[in-house]
Amino acid sequence: MPAISASVPGKIILFGEHAVVYGRPAIAVPVEQVRAKAIITPGIHQPSGSVLIQAPNIKIEALLSELPAENPLAATVRSVFDTLKISHPPALVIRISSTIPIAAGLGSGAAVTVAIIRALSDYLGRRLSNEQVSNLSFEIEKLHHGTPSGIDNTVTTFQKPVYFQRISDHQVIIEIISFPKPFTILIADTGVPSPTSITVGDVRRAWIERSDYYEGIFDNIAEVVQNARKAIESGSIEKLGELMNANHQLLRELDLSSQQIENLVQASQHAGALGAKLSGGGRGGNVIVLASELQATELIEILKSAGATRVIPTQVR
Ligand code: PMV
Repeated sequence: MPAISASVPGKIILFGEHAVVYGRPAIAVPVEQVRAKAIITPGIHQPSGSVLIQAPNIKIEALLSELPAENPLAATVRSVFDTLKISHPPALVIRISSTIPIAAGLGSGAAVTVAIIRALSDYLGRRLSNEQVSNLSFEIEKLHHGTPSGIDNTVTTFQKPVYFQRISDHQVIIEIISFPKPFTILIADTGVPSPTSITVGDVRRAWIERSDYYEGIFDNIAEVVQNARKAIESGSIEKLGELMNANHQLLRELDLSSQQIENLVQASQHAGALGAKLSGGGRGGNVIVLASELQATELIEILKSAGATRVIPTQVR
């Protein structure tokens, strides 16, 4: 049996993070420059049924049977076996690697999960549909995030720009968005890891205490998202930039910014960027900056001088 692999891009949320956990829409796009990969090979020297998981980036090398139920890698592999009703798998090696920074809002957890599901089901000769892949990885997202919206697993599964809204536990709206005019986004890393589970938990506690106030902010974010979709579909880049700034203000009101984020947002605004906002969980991770093509090179340098540990320019299309 030859090796089978799957490679899955990262993702970035353009609009609507956090409010999306409360049933409002959000827009996210794949980021092809960073990827997670899973390779499955036969476990030639292993006893039958043993599955070896190797994830050198996070220093894991262990048999599936040794890993606890809540380990996301083990849970992913077990969920594929359960779905395919495989009680005695062949001896396997699953090797996972990723260039997606962890806890930076680039969807590393979801991309690793989707890569494992795709490679493993293909190796077992039982390719799963996009819907099955996304649903399985949503269950694993719960181990990473607590109460995920499902946007990460959706974008990494479909690998297309999506407008996403969770209507209920079992119902989501997923619409692929087209960009008539491609535009340039700079993804600038604050260098501060910020686990999404923590910020999502903080917003939830605050929402429980003052739900009317928070619901109002989520409604305002939803309006920004709807307008952003119109701006994307009509190619109005200036308008999109204004909406990014507006979304960032609303995320500040949710107490999700930090000094490092503000340094990057303000530096890019002063340098004339069309718009800038934090992206994903907040308090660290990445800032996204909308730039004209002419501005991009200069803005990358400005972002680095303002503290960005790395800047990924990406064309959204
Ligand atoms: O930090 P990220 O990019 O993985 O995204 C989290 C997005 C949230 O809206 C904060 C949470 C979610 O599950 O949608």
